[in-house]
Amino acid sequence: MSPVKSASAQRAAGPEVVRRQVNLFDLQRQKARLGAEIEARIDKVLDHGQFILGPEVSELEEDLAAFAGVKHAIAVSSGRDALIMALMALDVGPGDAVFVPAFTFSATAGSVASVGATPVFVDVDPLTFNMDAADLERAIARVKRDGALTPRVVMPVDLYGLPADYAAIGAVAAASGMQVIADGAQSYGGEAGNKRVGALAPLTATSFYPTKPLGAYGDGGAIFSDDDALADAVRQIRHHGRAGDGDEALRLGMTGRLDTIQAAVLQVKLAAFEHELGARRRLASMYDARLKDHVAPPVIPQGFESAFALYTVRVKNRDAVRAKLQEEGIGTGLFYRIPLHRHPAFSHWVRGDEHLPVSEALADDVISLPIHADLTDEELDYVVAHFLAAIA
Ligand SMILES: Cc1ncc(COP(=O)(O)O)c(C=O)c1O
Repeated sequence: MSPVKSASAQRAAGPEVVRRQVNLFDLQRQKARLGAEIEARIDKVLDHGQFILGPEVSELEEDLAAFAGVKHAIAVSSGRDALIMALMALDVGPGDAVFVPAFTFSATAGSVASVGATPVFVDVDPLTFNMDAADLERAIARVKRDGALTPRVVMPVDLYGLPADYAAIGAVAAASGMQVIADGAQSYGGEAGNKRVGALAPLTATSFYPTKPLGAYGDGGAIFSDDDALADAVRQIRHHGRAGDGDEALRLGMTGRLDTIQAAVLQVKLAAFEHELGARRRLASMYDARLKDHVAPPVIPQGFESAFALYTVRVKNRDAVRAKLQEEGIGTGLFYRIPLHRHPAFSHWVRGDEHLPVSEALADDVISLPIHADLTDEELDYVVAHFLAAIA
């Protein structure tokens, strides 16, 4: 592909050069497709008035569980709350170690802190950017050697939509008698070995934050499990520890329910989700084909499918590349600029002898390019042309 001219050169070149605005996400176009149906569903909720745990919530839960191929889906207030409630269902608390990747959103470790447990940071694989099972073994051995904490849970993250290696991580966790909670905040719709996210770990948390592949019009999330007892526990926890209509608190809980209005929005979006996932995957393979001679495309191991919440590559001089794309009207994202062990809020858990070189290197050079179901091929070409010019 020939290099493109700079923004000023293009403007000088004449009117045939179209400057576009290509946002990282674009919910307005999705609204143009689905808005009328969403408004009609919201109206129905306003009419029946069951704003908390209305019928749309349980209908959505059935559809979410069926899509994921799992017995239970419990709709909750956010992705972070889903992680907290999953930890609460396993009675994780002070003195417990929860192993999290160092390269993720802060909520992964934040949820651990919320139940009084201690996050232990694990490095990620340089190809998939997901938790490295070998480094997990090292981190577990260190915690055991220290003797101060009880290893309880491993919490891998499905970064950018790609499921973590649950087969390898589950084996390491089981060898130490630990449970696995999947942080699938970015990966609803992802797959590994013919199973979908939700069915890959005993407990999975996802997020319906508006820009996630399946996003609400506000905060929301869900917990998935095949285990009846864990699902019951989560249902109680999200509703003040109460069971059904009972007013007795059977266990400690929280206000952790998904609003009925958000459930109604998600019902419409879930009906379109398979199509949207297909569109994201098609765009990702177009990016792969156009970028592969210049940068390494995201690695999707054999048998895995990403939900492509984000399309992320590594580049040198990342911040300069980002600024150039910005000049051309192209929105990009930095997920994540700071590995977890460098966040001030988590500094008191940092021992100083962590060795997390992959997470640190990624934080310096990842950049996410626009990807969403309504991105056009012409827009993708525009992004690619300017990206290649910016990295040249
Ligand atoms: C990996 C990860 N974990 C947890 C969360 C928290 O989800 P929410 O924003 O719905 O609380 C997010 C959301 O951005 C995330 O990306």
